[in-house]
Amino acid sequence: MTYLIGTGRTKFGVLNENIPELAYEAMFNSLNDSNLSINDIDAIYVANFCAGPFQNQLHLNSLISSLLPKSNIPIIRIETACASASSALYQAVISLNKFENIMVLGVEKMTCVDSLSALKNISAAGDRLLDQDEGLIFPAEYALIAQQHMLKYGTTLDDIALVSLKNHNNANLNDLAHFYHKKVDIEMIKNSPIVCSPLRLFDCSPVSDGAAAVIVSKNKKTDRGIKIAASAMATDTISLCQRKDLTSFNAAKIAAKEAYKQANVKPTDIDIAEVHDCFTIAELIAMEDIGLCKEGESKYLIRDGRTTLRGDIPINTDGGLKADGHPIGASGVAQIIEVVTQLRGEAGKRHVQDAEIGLTHNIGGVGGTAVIHILKKE
Ligand code: COA
Repeated sequence: MTYLIGTGRTKFGVLNENIPELAYEAMFNSLNDSNLSINDIDAIYVANFCAGPFQNQLHLNSLISSLLPKSNIPIIRIETACASASSALYQAVISLNKFENIMVLGVEKMTCVDSLSALKNISAAGDRLLDQDEGLIFPAEYALIAQQHMLKYGTTLDDIALVSLKNHNNANLNDLAHFYHKKVDIEMIKNSPIVCSPLRLFDCSPVSDGAAAVIVSKNKKTDRGIKIAASAMATDTISLCQRKDLTSFNAAKIAAKEAYKQANVKPTDIDIAEVHDCFTIAELIAMEDIGLCKEGESKYLIRDGRTTLRGDIPINTDGGLKADGHPIGASGVAQIIEVVTQLRGEAGKRHVQDAEIGLTHNIGGVGGTAVIHILKKE
């Protein structure tokens, strides 16, 4: 058995703190939450995507060691683009046959460079020749995906605007979110500047700083421990031009199928989900890939309000990557933290009634990596 026994994060947003301070705060908070001391942690997996190009800082495992009073435990950095943190958790779950307690830390400092440099550096998650050299930065990749989904299934601009509105509404109930307290309405979303047609500013996740940490253990320790019922990962080609279909991510479907099998549950058993909404269209595709509806039918879930906090399948209750923020290496852990918080009944104003099973869906690039976790309250 594997349990999440401690969670902690920083605020996400444009922050003054740098990588060591962000990492320290998240680690400290997760230890406090678990009632463990750092001396009880046997190993750390640290997820990070862009400290190299953004900060000229590599060798993050040793950097994290420098923050600890006991500096000699194994620490390993994991990088799978935007899925880095979930991949680190996947690796931690596997490693529990060797260790008793493992910390999974995601940390990212991104706002130290201007937006254009950030987008260029983030494009390193795409293929150098096939994508980067063709100008396919990520908003452009997801714009192509959105165009195809609209053509094939009749998904509309209003549908993707509703995803943005819902996630901003949720973030307004999350005081750690990048856009906490940003008043957003549907007109503001629909009139925001075009980034890459059909995607507008409010269809994009922001460039954020932040860190998040969880502690996994073989033992539940207290009643607040939440079981990891499934941890599954799949990969796919790196470039969109190597895919037959742009409107779904095969790796996500494969990982989800495997996760449902491990947890012995069906999509209809899922009470809440945190899905990878790096762009609004990605949230709609995620719902289809994890089987919450048939392909092309996610538009009905968003139109009917079924994914809002009071709907039957609330999605991205913390605001998602769109409005909670997207410090790339930390986002997958933040998704886990939100589901744990909901299942523990500790989500305050954004509490979802009677949630017992939650799913996280974390994507790297344009679906080149997909990691799914299913968590259960028991
Ligand atoms: N959604 C809503 N508002 C946003 C925003 C977003 N994604 N990004 C920035 N803003 C707001 C800022 O808060 C700021 O508001 P203010 O004037 O009220 O303070 C304003 O827009 C300008 O901010 P700025 O940082 O100058 O924006 P920008 O135009 O340089 O960057 C994007 C906007 C969309 C280009 C940037 O957010 C981006 O690159 N996002 C995608 C990141 C990405 O690709 N991640 C990986 C996904 S796979």
